Amino acid sequence: MNAKRERSRSVWMDVKVAPDARRLQADHAADVAVVGAGIAGLSIAYELAVRGLSVVVLDRGAIAGGMTSRTTAHLAPICDDSLSELLSMRGQELAKGFHASQSAAVDRIESIQKELQIDCEFRRLDGILFLDPESDESVLDDEVSAAMDIGVTVERGKGLPLRTLDERPFLRYPAQATFHPLKYLRGVADALTKKGARLHANTAVIEVKEGDDHVELKLESGHTVTVGHAVIATNSPIHDLVALHTKQAPYRTYAMGFEIEAGKLNDALYWDTQDPYHYVRLTPGEDGKDILIVGGEDHKTGEADDADARFAALTSWIKTLVPDLGPERYRWSGQVMDTLDYCGFIGREAGSERVLVSAGDSGQGITHGVVAGLLIPDLILGRENYLTAVYDPNRKPLKAATTYVSENITAVKNFAEYLAPGELTSIDELKPGQGAIVRRGLSKIAAYRTEKGEVIEKLAVCTHLGCHLHWNSFEVCWDCPCHGSHFSPDGSVLNAPAIGPLSDVDE
Ligand code: FES
Repeated sequence: MNAKRERSRSVWMDVKVAPDARRLQADHAADVAVVGAGIAGLSIAYELAVRGLSVVVLDRGAIAGGMTSRTTAHLAPICDDSLSELLSMRGQELAKGFHASQSAAVDRIESIQKELQIDCEFRRLDGILFLDPESDESVLDDEVSAAMDIGVTVERGKGLPLRTLDERPFLRYPAQATFHPLKYLRGVADALTKKGARLHANTAVIEVKEGDDHVELKLESGHTVTVGHAVIATNSPIHDLVALHTKQAPYRTYAMGFEIEAGKLNDALYWDTQDPYHYVRLTPGEDGKDILIVGGEDHKTGEADDADARFAALTSWIKTLVPDLGPERYRWSGQVMDTLDYCGFIGREAGSERVLVSAGDSGQGITHGVVAGLLIPDLILGRENYLTAVYDPNRKPLKAATTYVSENITAVKNFAEYLAPGELTSIDELKPGQGAIVRRGLSKIAAYRTEKGEVIEKLAVCTHLGCHLHWNSFEVCWDCPCHGSHFSPDGSVLNAPAIGPLSDVDE
């Protein structure tokens, strides 16, 4: 069934993190359970284990096999939605806190990889924001002014060694960084195991029950994990049905990897001033070559199924700047959860003492994940932390009221789709490898024909809050536009917040 899924392969995916992690097949007790084994979950678990707590990490898939394996790993502490936007949304004090914490996250990665001697290609480099031809130069003026207010070091420059950019103004942010995320997490996971932490893959949590002095996690297998605290680090939370989901929205982003002669392009993080912006970085390839990673062409999850056109646009954009690129080696897409005010939700939700959350990567998933590791352990241990207010999950981003309405209109529009006709009039029209929505009476069916011709039918109703699913032909899955769940063609959950599989169709 997954023959077409191979089309989507990130540059990192050959590295496996904790490949021996097994399903948890028994009841278990620990100080803390972390649900979600991406960068956030593993970072939180590591910081807890360092402090001597017993930790169990649970993931419904592979360890670090979710969106963390699809990042492009820009370790840029500056807000990727622009510093001027951050400043206007959060004010000076909190914007400073955001930047300081994102910088601290990069410093923490640097110190951990050094201490654990993880060979993960970590290196400091410049971040270069360059002016897109469509943008006015005042965009850069605003960024410089905001950088000064927040205390971010920035320099102006003109002329990059890229075709068409030899006269283009840019801003240079020194001391950004990059690395190989899965090599890094492989080292962190090894260290966690040595410290006695338990990592369990293929272990789905289906219920989170908070008591006065403990939390019970019910597993799909029927077993129970009993802990003092639980951290839900699934980016789109599985335990919170509504509150956080109204303050963040899922977006698909696309990335490609091309061979390039080593040394042809300066090792730096590049991005432009378009909205959505393009981003470029390098990573070591094989035979002395580099791989140039280019990304962008974002859209709201489920609102387009035209990946080939988006990859063509990315190819054309990068080949204008770097005409002598080598062959394409990778293409993939990932999902980011954009929050209303560009900062993640990390901490305790109102009314919850023992269940904490890390959600809303806002396109800076790696640094946000590591920030969660810097904050959550202090909250569990009852210590003060200056980051609490910056990432408070209960904050109401009043300045983002317009965005709040426009993002949440997705769900309203989505429910109207149940009244629309199907995409095909009959399942007989389905081609091998194709998925489509078909109406049958009052029901909408998510139908998929395997390469061998077998048809799989499921209800096209997301099991999180009931939104209407959309087919993603590139990733070969059903995407939920409302809060970012993904389901495989057989109905099983691939991505949170959904917990249960798609329902069967009543004949
Ligand atoms: Fe919330 Fe689908 S992810 S309704």
